[in-house]
Amino acid sequence: MSEKEANQPDEGKQNSQEVDVVIRPMAIDDLAPAFHLGEKLFTLQAFPNLYRIWDEFEIIDFYHGSSEYCFSAFADGKLVGFLLGTVIEKTKRRRYGYLVWTGVDSEYGRLGIASKLFDAYKDACINEKVGMIIVDTQADNYSAIDFFTSRGFGDARDHVYLTLDLKAEQRRQDAH
Ligand SMILES: CC(C)(COP(=O)(O)OP(=O)(O)OC[C@H]1O[C@@H](n2cnc3c(N)ncnc32)[C@H](O)[C@@H]1OP(=O)(O)O)[C@@H](O)C(=O)NCCC(=O)NCCS
Repeated sequence: MSEKEANQPDEGKQNSQEVDVVIRPMAIDDLAPAFHLGEKLFTLQAFPNLYRIWDEFEIIDFYHGSSEYCFSAFADGKLVGFLLGTVIEKTKRRRYGYLVWTGVDSEYGRLGIASKLFDAYKDACINEKVGMIIVDTQADNYSAIDFFTSRGFGDARDHVYLTLDLKAEQRRQDAH
């Protein structure tokens, strides 16, 4: 499987006509299913940087700190997608939305669910007089880049993730 293919979630298996989707503000009972969905999506193989940062504290922090910008998507009686965002107030007149995490169960991909989650977040940002929303993701996360582009994002800037392997560094020091 190519790197590009590894990062593409399965095409949705259902027809959008058959699936009723409900988007609502994230509730306390959504935290565990959203966390486990994130574990399914942000794998070490597909998204090493997202994998390393995603943990239960991440979702708890967003729910605690900016629950008005966190949304869940439900279909067939279960959580199938989520979005975790926030708003950063630089000055009274300059506010930025920061969409940090979003994910949709691959069984429900390409049904417009992430778009609906994004619309809910965008409306919340507009209500708070946010002037600009920013997102970032790995450069090889093609499906996310296509998704964000489809929602109107542009002006991409290079952003580089670096890692420092402390265990390898320690092994080198021990060898001397
Ligand atoms: C990216 C992601 C959230 C998109 O969710 P989704 O519900 O399938 O997206 P939508 O159905 O709303 O797609 C809207 C548009 O985005 C684009 N798009 C979405 N997924 C795409 C893909 N895999 N390939 C190409 N374009 C894609 C298309 O233009 C699509 O419109 P269309 O289906 O009419 O062509 C989902 O694939 C996912 O969870 N990926 C893994 C997690 C991730 O990378 N999250 C983002 C970083 S935190």
